[in-house]
Amino acid sequence: RRMTMPENLDATPLDALAREAAGCTRCPLYCDATQTIFGEGPEDARVMVVGEQPGDQEDLAGRPFVGPAGRLFDEQAKAAGLVRKGVYVTNAVKHFKFVQRGKRRIHQRPDAGEVTACRWWLDREIATVKPDLIVAMGATALQALTGSGKGILKRRGGVESGPDDMRVLATVHPSYLLRLPDREARARETDLFRADLARARDLV
Ligand code: URA
Repeated sequence: RRMTMPENLDATPLDALAREAAGCTRCPLYCDATQTIFGEGPEDARVMVVGEQPGDQEDLAGRPFVGPAGRLFDEQAKAAGLVRKGVYVTNAVKHFKFVQRGKRRIHQRPDAGEVTACRWWLDREIATVKPDLIVAMGATALQALTGSGKGILKRRGGVESGPDDMRVLATVHPSYLLRLPDREARARETDLFRADLARARDLV
C-alpha cells in the first residue's frame, strides 16, 4: 500500500509562525478583520521593515504592503537600493482595524493595548529573522520597538536601540507621505524618506 506524504505546511520556522498567527485571538481585532496579515520575506533578511498595520487592501489580499502605501514603499525602497524581495516586511499589528462608513472601511490607528498584544508576534519574527537592522516606519512601529512613538520627525534617520539591543532606524510611514496635501511638501518628504531607506541600506 502506498502512503502519500503529508504536505509540509510548516516548511520553515516562519511558515510555522504564520500558521500559528492565523488563529490569533490575543486582542479583539481578529473579530472584524478578514485574516491575520503576517510578515513576509526571507528568513535570513538583514533588514526588517515594520509598518503600522495592514490596510483595507492588505486585509483582503492576505499580504502586507500591497496597497497604495505599499506601492510607495516598494518604489522608494527600490530607488534607495533596498530590494523588497531581500527585506522582511511586517507590521506592528497584524489585523486591520477599521470603522465601517457605508461601503467604505476607514482605517483606525491601533491602540497601545493592541500594539502590546501583537508584540508577541513581532518579537517572534525578530527572534527568527535576527535582522541586523529594523526600520520602524511611523509612530506605531517606533512605539512597538522602542517604547515611544513620540517626536518621530525629530528622531527619523537616527538609529536607536530596540528589543535585544537590536538597531532600530526610525522613519515616517509612507501613508504620511500620501496624506500630505501640498505637492512640494510631499516631494520634499519623499526625498527624506528615501534618504532614510538609503541609510538603512548603508548600515547593513
Ligand atoms: N500600512 C501598513 O502599515 N502596513 C501595511 O501592510 C499596509 C499599509
